[in-house]
Amino acid sequence: MARGIPLLVTTPIFYANAAPHVGHAYTGIASDVIARCWRQQDRKTFLLTGTDEHGQKVADTAAKAGVTPQAFVDQQAKVFEHVFRKLDIGFDRFIRTTEPDHIAGVQEFLQKLKAATTPLGRPAVYQGEYSGLYCQGCERFYTEKELVDGKCPLHNTVPQQLVEHNWFFRLADYLPIIQKAIAKNELKLIPTTTKQEVLGFFKQGVQDFSISRERVRWGVPLPWDPTQTAYVWVDALPNYLTGVGFGKDAKHARNWWRGDVVHVMARDILKFHAVYWPALLLAVGEPMPSTIVAHGFFTVNGQKMSKSIGNVVDPVDLIAKYGVDGTRYLLLTPFPFGQDGDLPVERFTERYNADLANGLGNLVSRTTNMVERYANGVVKLAKAPKSLAKTRKLTETFQFSQALADIWATVTWANQAIDKARPWDLAKGEHATDAKKLAALLAELVAQLKEIAVAITPYLPETGATLTKCLRQKKIVKAPPLFQRVV
Ligand code: MSP
Repeated sequence: MARGIPLLVTTPIFYANAAPHVGHAYTGIASDVIARCWRQQDRKTFLLTGTDEHGQKVADTAAKAGVTPQAFVDQQAKVFEHVFRKLDIGFDRFIRTTEPDHIAGVQEFLQKLKAATTPLGRPAVYQGEYSGLYCQGCERFYTEKELVDGKCPLHNTVPQQLVEHNWFFRLADYLPIIQKAIAKNELKLIPTTTKQEVLGFFKQGVQDFSISRERVRWGVPLPWDPTQTAYVWVDALPNYLTGVGFGKDAKHARNWWRGDVVHVMARDILKFHAVYWPALLLAVGEPMPSTIVAHGFFTVNGQKMSKSIGNVVDPVDLIAKYGVDGTRYLLLTPFPFGQDGDLPVERFTERYNADLANGLGNLVSRTTNMVERYANGVVKLAKAPKSLAKTRKLTETFQFSQALADIWATVTWANQAIDKARPWDLAKGEHATDAKKLAALLAELVAQLKEIAVAITPYLPETGATLTKCLRQKKIVKAPPLFQRVV
């Protein structure tokens, strides 16, 4: 990714039918880490997130709650936005698909689609009849082959058989272009397992898809056929464009969309992003995103998080116990980015105490304490013994858990260096060499902490800022505890 080019980082827009859980939080935090890492290097960066508020599922949930869909999503969007702010996710815009500028943008997008001709000279949009197995939970049709024991693999429910007259998008005509772009890494799919998975979709064959719904009233009306509303995905995907001004402020939109565009998500919605979305963009004459990043899908106690199972982990509870930075750390460390896994919630406290309270927290508190007591708060400039230049590369390439492991190896090293050097003995020593050794050690420790502060800032923004401030003082004083132990 070129530094001079603006960078747009996006999360999926989340369904506004339930409160955010740690899965959503993870995507938000991961996207925020990327954005912060580049901002730290003065790159122009825009972080976009928000809520996906149309579709039958949302309308049904609102009906069950006895409120209008609009009142319902207004409430839900507030919750999402609030939790994301609490998690220190520094988004530039929180987009909602019921906002008038998004709706207008989607309609413009649809008009362009309707007017488009495919590379084979056919209309990109045609009328057809669709009969299929529809999972309302996913808001999508499934093929028999995709079902598990006749049920939706995600919701474990039997899909409905539906027949509809819809408008279709001629996806087939765009597939060779997309496949080529992926093969040549013009459309980068990260990590490599993601690329393999997407190339697998092409092998299996992908069908044209309907872009409208006859039955769904809670959606954006098709401009040329108001008896139909836009299929919820065709309403949602263009948020990445409308979020930066498409349909309202063309210059702003162009500035961000012609730069690097990185879509972050979990694997569950890869096909929509790596196949459907690039094809829709090609049809309307917009560039494809540069990068699609898919992280793993987490289970809790071996199962997909769901209210009915009762295994939903609420990020707000984690924040209450471990703080914002503690939560960010605990969510980002368990797995290499891209790998699925069971969230080790029962080991969170142990990990928090070991790595944050006793690890970094202790290192900062003993170092600043010694600098205050033994050196009057002043140390010479020194070089950090362990360079963390490599960790930035790891962060830029989405290897978050490895980057954090590297930083924490240095934290451990520094704590051990203190134990070994026994500065408290040096301070009592009568030889001039003891005083020299002590001064050199303290200077190196401060330099190391400064380097650690820079490296952790994208991950733990508050801790990074506190640490930086504390080390920048003319006279360093003992830092307040960064992390309280949790029992
Ligand atoms: N509304 C669509 C996305 C439209 S984007 C144009 C949607 N919403 S969702 O609320 O279901 O969010 C899916 C995303 O939430 C996943 O891709 C992932 O980013 C995040 N996660 C939801 N559950 C998750 C886990 N259990 N584990 C990891 N990430 C999870 O799909």
